Amino acid sequence: MCGIVAYIGQKEAYPIIVKGLKRLEYRGYDSSGIALQGNNSINIYKKQGKVVNLEEFTENLDRSGTVGIGHTRWATHGEPNDVNAHPHYSEDKDLAIIHNGIIENYDSLKHQLLSKGYTFRSETDTEVLCYLIDDIRKNTGAKLGESVRMALQQVVGAYAIVIMSKDEPNKLIAARKSSPLVVGIGKEGDFYLASDATPIIEYTKQVVYLADEEIAVIKRGSELKLYGIDDVEKTPYIQELELHLEAIEKGGYEHFMLKEIHEQPRSIEDCFRGRLNASEGRVSLGGIKEYEEKIINANRVIMIACGTSWHACLVGEYLFEDLARINVEVEYASEFRYRNPIIGENDIVIAISQSGETADTLAALELAKSKGATILGICNVVGSSISRITDAGSYTHAGPEIGVASTKAFTAQVTVLTLMALSLAKQKNAINESKYRAMLSGLEVIPQKVQQVLEKNSEMEFIASQYQSASNALYLGRGSSFPVALEGALKLKEISYIHAEGYPAAEMKHGPIALIDEEMPVFVIATKGTSYEKVVSNIQEVKARKGKIIAIVTEGDTQVKEIADHTVEIPETDEHLVPLLATIPFQLLSYHIAVMRECNVDQPRNLAKSVTVE
Ligand code: F6R
Repeated sequence: MCGIVAYIGQKEAYPIIVKGLKRLEYRGYDSSGIALQGNNSINIYKKQGKVVNLEEFTENLDRSGTVGIGHTRWATHGEPNDVNAHPHYSEDKDLAIIHNGIIENYDSLKHQLLSKGYTFRSETDTEVLCYLIDDIRKNTGAKLGESVRMALQQVVGAYAIVIMSKDEPNKLIAARKSSPLVVGIGKEGDFYLASDATPIIEYTKQVVYLADEEIAVIKRGSELKLYGIDDVEKTPYIQELELHLEAIEKGGYEHFMLKEIHEQPRSIEDCFRGRLNASEGRVSLGGIKEYEEKIINANRVIMIACGTSWHACLVGEYLFEDLARINVEVEYASEFRYRNPIIGENDIVIAISQSGETADTLAALELAKSKGATILGICNVVGSSISRITDAGSYTHAGPEIGVASTKAFTAQVTVLTLMALSLAKQKNAINESKYRAMLSGLEVIPQKVQQVLEKNSEMEFIASQYQSASNALYLGRGSSFPVALEGALKLKEISYIHAEGYPAAEMKHGPIALIDEEMPVFVIATKGTSYEKVVSNIQEVKARKGKIIAIVTEGDTQVKEIADHTVEIPETDEHLVPLLATIPFQLLSYHIAVMRECNVDQPRNLAKSVTVE
């Protein structure tokens, strides 16, 4: 959570930083702020709410300066207000700092500083870190970089920080541990820093991703210097960004979420690229190929994730078990890590994460690694923390996902899991050749079928108009459509604030059926397949209690059509591939309901895209 941006160079810093903060608003939008190096002083402006509030607030203020740091906040310590907004500064305003992460031992550090007579303005952990650096600087006479290094040795927690000092105006110091930080190396000694590459992309493609406990000393017009927290100098590894500017703009859509929903035919195709060739009967995920034998022979395969990515794990469980006959356990990362799980060297832990930065998932992986397990990752963000700590993994290649509610990342995760399951099934001889070939061909045409489902947009908009005022909703599915029901319910809750629950269809009669009356919309995945007849019976049970049925059915279905209030047809496909299609109408439905209810679709209340706190 929280987005940080900084700039040092020849250009005016304010417009670069503000534009960057807007790109990072998906990481949090409780408040924003900026600090600019002025003439022998640092000008700091902060405002509660979104970056546009900061822009309005600073309209008639001095926004000049070629060095600056900016922050957009997702509140952890202290309520979202102007005072708790970043940047924070030292008592005499000589230092200013931006921070993404959590200083876990801030309370004890604060008490030490209070006993030295310091008074704090905010309730944040970040201000404590700023004062600590300042205290070290004043007491030891050390330069800024060295003071930061000494302070970080006392810190327990996660941080990506950038600090500036009035006394060293041509320098920025940056450091990271468990929170992401990228340094863009521009022309003529300009540097751009940010939580991800999106604020940097239009200025330079040369970037360095800081590793844990690395400190960057950035001087205007000079080379980037990197040091470990132990003060040993390191050689920066400069990478070329593959990101394109169009990928992070709305491209004519009203919201990023709608754009990302419509990008799915392409993002699924991108996910296949070089990995799937149906005519040659080939499926291969280069990143994990050499671990396949290990997965097949593993004692246990455990998939861990949070939120939407956890739903993808549940689909993965069905695919691995049914296609490859490999037993899988799915765990919430946050529960797994605190359960003292029994893990050994023959276990494989696969983490799924769009951002690759989710704190709980990262910590769960670290735990599994410490117990000797092989850890693998399925991530979307290239160079993210999870992709770096895992032994191997596969990227989903969905492109940047900016809408806070995950859409194309989910279908890309499910696509990778399908490719993995098929590759493992083949390797293990768990699938017969004709089924294998049929599945590869079925998978290859999924992008076109997703496109057909997207053409139901106005149908979904109409259904949305019928149920936009509902207070509750139920989503039902069986088999691999159960996670689709969970995902449908999550999408509705998070962006339209309607209470919704996903259930295995057959579980309904064990409790939730009590909720059903004529006011309750029940969304059911009732596509052709093993459980079709059973789901039809579940629909009858809802109907008998006057619930409203909205069913996702296979093209040409007649049976459900007779009972349901609305049906949405999706093209016929192999049962294992249904989640890739059935998810789409629910994404569109939530989107339209949220728009009709005038909710902030891309930045729903209280949420952030990248959850880097526990
Ligand atoms: C829901 C959503 C969240 C994320 C969850 C995990 O739409 O986006 O539930 O799926 O916070 O995030 P990642 O996948 O980045 O680990």
